[in-house]
Amino acid sequence: SSFPKEFPKEFLWGGATAANQIEGAWNVDGKGLTTAEVVRKADDRKKMSMNVVDAKSIKEATNDLTTVNYPKRRGVDFYHHYKEDIKLFAEMGFKVFRFSIAWARIFPQGDEQQANEKGLAFYDRVLDELEKYNIEPLITLSHYEMPLALTQKQNGWLDRRTIADFTHYTEVVFKHYRGRVRYWLSFNEINTGTWGFHETGVVDSHLKKQEQENVRYQALHHQLVASAIATKQLHEIDPEAKMGCMLARMQTYSATCKPEDVRAAQLEDQKNLFFTDVQARGEYPEFMNRYFSENGIQIKMAAHDQQVLAESPVDFVSFSYYMTTVTSAIAEEEVNGNMSTGGRNKYLEESDWGWQIDPVGLRITLNEMWDRYRKPLFIVENGLGALDKLESGKIHDDYRINYLRKHIEQMKQAIKDGVQLMGYTMWGPIDLISFSTSEMSKRYGFIYVDQDDEGNGSLKRIKKDSFYWYKKVILSNGEDL
Ligand code: BG6
Repeated sequence: SSFPKEFPKEFLWGGATAANQIEGAWNVDGKGLTTAEVVRKADDRKKMSMNVVDAKSIKEATNDLTTVNYPKRRGVDFYHHYKEDIKLFAEMGFKVFRFSIAWARIFPQGDEQQANEKGLAFYDRVLDELEKYNIEPLITLSHYEMPLALTQKQNGWLDRRTIADFTHYTEVVFKHYRGRVRYWLSFNEINTGTWGFHETGVVDSHLKKQEQENVRYQALHHQLVASAIATKQLHEIDPEAKMGCMLARMQTYSATCKPEDVRAAQLEDQKNLFFTDVQARGEYPEFMNRYFSENGIQIKMAAHDQQVLAESPVDFVSFSYYMTTVTSAIAEEEVNGNMSTGGRNKYLEESDWGWQIDPVGLRITLNEMWDRYRKPLFIVENGLGALDKLESGKIHDDYRINYLRKHIEQMKQAIKDGVQLMGYTMWGPIDLISFSTSEMSKRYGFIYVDQDDEGNGSLKRIKKDSFYWYKKVILSNGEDL
């Protein structure tokens, strides 16, 4: 019998970014303020700063018209460096580049009728550049950066009207970029909405735990419906194009072989996969309905919501993969991901930020997700945030190369297991502002950017050792690691 022995020829190698972490130019060419741009740098490297946002801190932020305290306003100035940056991606041989459209560049307040032409024009220029080098765009429609005005006006996704605002935006961009973009993602890491503001745009830090959970799942229900509507629109407007869902996949292992622990881990996993279950299969799974009812969570649905979900499942399933966690029936010691918590795994090493590194887990996850959905998979984020040292103009980041090599080896194993994998976009091919801590010093890139946590620096781009390594990986289609 036969099985695939190598990466498919059309495998999409590349890198992934988000507007709020790279673009800067936060108030240029008519752009509105986003939810990402009112978040300060974290005081504690191992704790995320996103979800301490409240009405008071938003007010403070909107009165502060500088970029000093709000690093995502400055990014790494991709807005003015995109030509140079895309040229460097092309030099590595990128087949695909994942980026997001900042909704607030197109609709500064989130709900205007007329789109901001200058915003549309910026992404046209980015696409022109990508086409020059035959790099396929993969665009996220919403990556933790909704227009802040929608939070202020209607508390973000908690309000059903946000569905119409979002789908007006998606209709406009699908029509405008029709024929130029083959792959789209609706919401980045949609499941992280259960952790708060950054995904839902809902101010809820003052609520009690149960109420908060209810509010978050309600907001997420609206997002799931919006995602299905967007999928339907895309298929009508641009039949060649494909829509994917995007999950922060967090495989959970059982702490022991005690059945109660295994069951607790299974539930954790189900709660993680729930979102993809809805987006790929078109309905709420029963285990979640039970979870909601036992935890006093009531989702308000409109009459046609279930039909909308059922009608338009996604074409492919994408996810980010950084770490795995451990669960036991009784909560033990906790470890920090950028926002998740879970138990420590004594068999794994961790990054400087406490993320547990688990390449074999990627193979496990790929197999499980393929078995569960039978839709093409796409790893749209994976990478290592580390403290890089610039030494006489060079960065010797062998730790990053090791991390990526081990993960790519396991991807290849999964392909041999029969998993259909479309591509791999490593997170942060160019250094950018960290999502969880807003630090610059948490670097992921193949390309170094001369900028510190306070925003000082020349913004000069420098190739790291990993740049040359990844070029070789792509050239050999994953054979020369
Ligand atoms: C994912 C996000 O959670 O992880 C990215 O989609 C983020 O936006 C990435 O940057 C890495 O996280 P961090 O906190 O190290 O930037």
